[in-house]
Order: sequence, then structure tokens, then C-alpha cells
Amino acid sequence: MRITMIGSGYVGLVSGACFSDFGHDVCCVDMDQAKIDALHAGRMPIFEPGLDLLVASNVAAGRLTFTTDLASAVAGADAIFIAVGTPSRRGDGHADLRYVFAATEEIAAAITGPTVVVTKSTVPVGTGDRVEAILREKRPDIDVAVVSNPEFLREGAAIGDFKRPDRIVIGTDDDRARQVMRDVYRPLYLGESPILFTSRRTSELIKYAANAFLATKITFINEIADLCEAVGADVRDVSRGIGLDNRIGKKFLHAGPGYGGSCFPKDTLALLKTAEDYQTPVHIVEAVVKVNDSRKRAMGRKVLHALGDTPRGKTVALLGLTFKPNTDDMRDAPSLAIATALADAGVTVRTHDPEGMGPAKAMMPDLVYCTDAYDAAEGADAVVIVTEWDAYRALDLPRLKGLMAGPIMVDLRNVYQRADVEQAGFTYTAVGR
Ligand code: UDX
Repeated sequence: MRITMIGSGYVGLVSGACFSDFGHDVCCVDMDQAKIDALHAGRMPIFEPGLDLLVASNVAAGRLTFTTDLASAVAGADAIFIAVGTPSRRGDGHADLRYVFAATEEIAAAITGPTVVVTKSTVPVGTGDRVEAILREKRPDIDVAVVSNPEFLREGAAIGDFKRPDRIVIGTDDDRARQVMRDVYRPLYLGESPILFTSRRTSELIKYAANAFLATKITFINEIADLCEAVGADVRDVSRGIGLDNRIGKKFLHAGPGYGGSCFPKDTLALLKTAEDYQTPVHIVEAVVKVNDSRKRAMGRKVLHALGDTPRGKTVALLGLTFKPNTDDMRDAPSLAIATALADAGVTVRTHDPEGMGPAKAMMPDLVYCTDAYDAAEGADAVVIVTEWDAYRALDLPRLKGLMAGPIMVDLRNVYQRADVEQAGFTYTAVGR
């Protein structure tokens, strides 16, 4: 099949590379010439484990190409995926759909025969209808079906998630489009990943409902963690104790500093806006958004509290800046709120992150960026684990303590055992225990 991917960002590039790996002929388009040049030179615009090798092997096999020329990539394609960004619109939290509609206009101008246009970008309910209306208006001469096919990729695990999905969701009422999508995903559903056909609006809502539910699960356990601290219980055991109930499930019950990233914060806000537009409030999601926002600030206060009565003039080593490990993504990372709270209190922040320091420097130029965890700990009064990178899971605690001014550890990801840390001479503060 010939597949065109409009947008070679995170979702477009991973999806395009994986489709080409299935044997399809894939062209990834982006309007950013520098990005396309980098891809031609074998450089990935994002950090995602395994992506460089996947891209290189499919480029070598002649199945994966990159271009800025949307018109030539679209002509003759069996399926055209729209995988452009849908950021939060500044000011009101609605998803900003300008890139989706701009891509649609360009597609309309370039299609040469019957095709299927697929929205892979996360788009609010009803966007598919608007995309279809544009295509019908501009090209009444051509039979184009518009399909919703949301992605459920986790950063850092995106290739595995794409190739072994829990489910594939396809939203369309058009029989021909359904067949095209079956052909596109044939290797996966032959490999027994369930494929769920729904209406387009239902499919669009599934994506938001999934992310809102996962954000709720995390926020729920985070509040239970606070309660654990108050009553003297251990949230890790509470997670295990409830998660072993199959109706609840074990995943997404790790208490921590609050969720961040490119999806949960943006998609929960956009869902609230949709609910508002349709005068059908989703109170639980409203609470989740509020609780998660205040949690990030509360984590800053937790670190200050661990520093004692006079934090001003002290130094903290923040380990991990990205919103989670195995990514260089800093969007809505809890580290931003924590570092701000510390700086506001007159604390010097030394920091290290295996991949995120480049993007972090642009956002927080006043931090001291260090070469590794030990360098960050030099002269620090406390070390704070903000992101659970593997590099911070087995630190040489006696060495760390020897470098520090004061032996305090605040473990916001619960990666250490209290006994080990205390035995090494630290005062230990964790989350929910
Ligand atoms: C998420 C969804 O998982 C994915 O399906 C969707 O398509 C995009 O959004 P991603 O943002 O890459 O993926 O990361 P994820 O691993 O889901 O983590 C999101 C946030 O929740 C991170 O900040 C993480 O630290 C936090 N989290 C996750 C917890 O605090 N506790 C958990 O138990 C799980």
C-alpha cells in the first residue's frame, strides 16, 4: 500500500517508520525543511529508543522516504494520515486545530483519485466531520472517506506500543475506508491485536476518554499517597493491594509528583472544553486537572519542607527533569514547578538529566546543569529524584553522601528502599509512605 504521513513529529515519524516496517511504501511529509534534511541525514528530530535503527533499515530498503513536497506525496496515496500537532490553544485550553485544517486544505488541493484521509492527531469530537466538509467542498469530484484512528503511543515505548497495541481503534461508517484500514493494519490484527470499528465521533472520544481515565487513575493514587502519609500507611502496598483486583488493574498506580507530558495535560483540558461546549460537565476530569496542577506545586513545598526551616541559601540537586524517563520531553514536567518553587525560595538548583538538559536549558536558564548525578550532588544539602531514569536507580549512596553538604534524599518516584538510604546516613522522604 502507499501511505502518506502528514507531519513527521513524534506520532507521524514513529507511525510512518512502523508502517514501512510492515512492508508498506511510506512517505513522511513535514513543512520544516530542517527536519526533513536531518531525517535524510539519518538524524532523528526526537529521542525515542530504537527509532533511528528502524528508520535507517526502512530507508535502506526503499520503503520510507521524507519530503517537504506534500502535493507529490499525496498524489496516488491509498491512505493519507494527518499526524500534525494539536497543542492547547493559548488562553482557552481548546485544542488548536489550525495545523489539521491547513493540512486538510493542502490535501484537498493535491489528491488525484479516491483515497482515505485518516486523522491520527488527537482531535476533539466532530473534527472528522469538519475535515470531511472541507474535502467535499474543495473536491466534490473525488471520493474521499475520512477516518479517525487515534494513537495510544507512550513516549519512550512508542515502537513497542505501535507494533503490539492493546487495540486498534478505527472510526468510520464507510465500507471502503474500513477495508483500506484493515489492509493498513493487517500485520497487527493477524497478530491478534483487537481491531475495534466504531463511528468516527466515538473513536475521537475514545482517545480523550482513555487519556482522561489514565490521568484520573494516577491522580487518584497520588491523593491516596497523601492520605497514606497522614495515616502512616504505604502507598506502594495500597497500589498492589488494589491493583491485583483485575477490575482495577496494576498499571498507572505509581504515586509520584503528578503527571506531565504532551498528552495528559493537553487532552484532559481539551476534554473539559468539549464537555463545556456540549453543556455536559465532566466533574471528575475537572477535579483531576485541578488536583494534578496543585500537586506539582505541592512537590516543591515538600522539598522545601525537607530542607528545614531556612531553605534560603541552600543547594538542591534535582535528578531528572523530563516528565518521565526515556524521553527528552519537558512539556508540563513536574520539574518545572519544583525548580520554580525552589528558586523562589532562594535555593540554588544543580541538576542533571540524561536527555532533557538541552530543552530544559531553554526553559530554565538559571539552573546549574551538571554532567551526572554525582556532579549535581556536589555541595548539595538535598538530592531530589524527580524522574525515575535508570541512571538514578542504583546510585552509590555512600559516594553521593560524601559529596554532599547535608545528607537529605527526597525520592518523588519511590525508587529506593527507606532502610538502604537511611543506612547510608541520609534522611529519607518519599511519596505516600
Ligand atoms: C500517554 C498515554 O500513555 C498514551 O497512551 C497516549 O497516547 C499519550 O499519553 P505518555 O504521555 O508518553 O503517554 O506517558 P505515560 O507513560 O502514559 O506517562 C504520563 C505521565 O504520567 C508521566 O508524567 C508519568 O510519570 C505519569 N505516571 C504514569 C505516573 O505518575 N504514575 C503512573 O503510574 C503512570
